[in-house]
Amino acid sequence: MINTVQVEINGEVFTTEKNAKLISLCDNNITDLEFMCRAGACGVCLIKVIEGRGNITEKTEEEKILLPMLTDDKDARLACQVKIMGDIAVQKIEEFA
Ligand code: FES
Repeated sequence: MINTVQVEINGEVFTTEKNAKLISLCDNNITDLEFMCRAGACGVCLIKVIEGRGNITEKTEEEKILLPMLTDDKDARLACQVKIMGDIAVQKIEEFA
């Protein structure tokens, strides 16, 4: 369906509505991703976007502040901050670089 997108998290595929928050998908399913502050402040939800970089929302102000402190990977994002606009594949970043 046109309003449905596929989200691959550590190789496992989930389906959700277009423009859904990634954190909402994770609230409703058992995934490998973890959250703590849910507000872009702690870095626990750090992920790397493997596919579909253009299919998620732009970095939030919180991400622009925190991500450079955690990693220099340009594809790193905070899972609690992104909305999904199309199919994506992400991987959890286990340790802060
Ligand atoms: S849960 Fe804390 S930054 Fe995403």
